[in-house]
Amino acid sequence: MTTFALQKNPQPQSETVRNAILGAPVFGTQFTDHMAHIRFTEEQGWHNHEVVPYGPLSLDPAAAVLHYAQEIFEGLKAYRHADGSVWTFRPDRNADRMNASAARMALPEMDGSDFIDSLRALVEQDVAWVPAPKDDADEVSLYLRPFMISAERFLGLRPTQQADYYVIASPAAAYFSGGIKPVSIWLSQNLKRSGAGGTGFAKTGGNYAASTAAMIEANSKGCQQVMFTDAVDGTHLEELGGMNLMLITADGKLLTPPVSQTILDGVTRRSVLELAPRLGLTPEERPITVDEWRTGAADGTIVEAFACGTAAAITPIGKLVSDDWSVDHGETPGETTMTMRRTLLDIQYGRAEGPEGWMV
Ligand code: COI
Repeated sequence: MTTFALQKNPQPQSETVRNAILGAPVFGTQFTDHMAHIRFTEEQGWHNHEVVPYGPLSLDPAAAVLHYAQEIFEGLKAYRHADGSVWTFRPDRNADRMNASAARMALPEMDGSDFIDSLRALVEQDVAWVPAPKDDADEVSLYLRPFMISAERFLGLRPTQQADYYVIASPAAAYFSGGIKPVSIWLSQNLKRSGAGGTGFAKTGGNYAASTAAMIEANSKGCQQVMFTDAVDGTHLEELGGMNLMLITADGKLLTPPVSQTILDGVTRRSVLELAPRLGLTPEERPITVDEWRTGAADGTIVEAFACGTAAAITPIGKLVSDDWSVDHGETPGETTMTMRRTLLDIQYGRAEGPEGWMV
């Protein structure tokens, strides 16, 4: 296990402030006292493993990340179990995906063990920041955000020769405010997220920045999220920008588009597919057209839809809205969706046994 040198925060949040934050965390707004850091240089590789006080970064104005968006990130959560122990969910998957993103963005790959040790080092230091759920319905956790930036001072374009990797942590509750109620999704027909050969499968900031204009459009139509379609002719469903799509059929299939160059290989997506047989569902990864969802919802062959991702866990979809038609799954969360949600959360919070090696 790699040792991380510790530089303790001389001014940590007081217990009173921390407890106030943990009592009502709002996703992505508050951060713990420390962050993990590892530096990469061409000469030394990954080195300088440390946990330092959380705070602003000092970057050269010519750092490549600021000009060419050479950056990648991950998202996973630490859960406090009833016995007080703290666990992450399938961090090896995040480590693998981070390296796939790094390869695409010409950033350096890192040992999976360094990735996992960085999470452990930070969570051990800031373990008091991992909230304890009040009951089985309470969805609090410590959201971990590893990220890597090209920090080299160079305005030419090339594979980076100097990078910094950090992990920051933020106490989190449910991603969508207002509890578990079905969300409305806007079908983005003009704005696209990714194309073949692009970066859609990589967890890189530009994909998310580029999806924000579509989110503004969605909000103006009264929707909370965006459904992106393929960039060729817009006939096929892809993903929701920050979440993957799942459809449930009346005959017990769990459908989702296959991961490809344009769709992120979500850890929650993969886990839900692997859990499907426990719920008597048959997982099916295959291309799905917009028309299949539209006609299937109308004739009763598609009975439920949900979005899944680390931050949002499993969120029922009530409506798919376009300019001239909509799909309506109703205002009540689907029964199978909610069972899947419970199954996943029970594993993550240690209330049920998950497959071997999922909780670390
Ligand atoms: C996550 O679910 O962890 C993500 O990175 C998505 C982000 C939009 C919060």
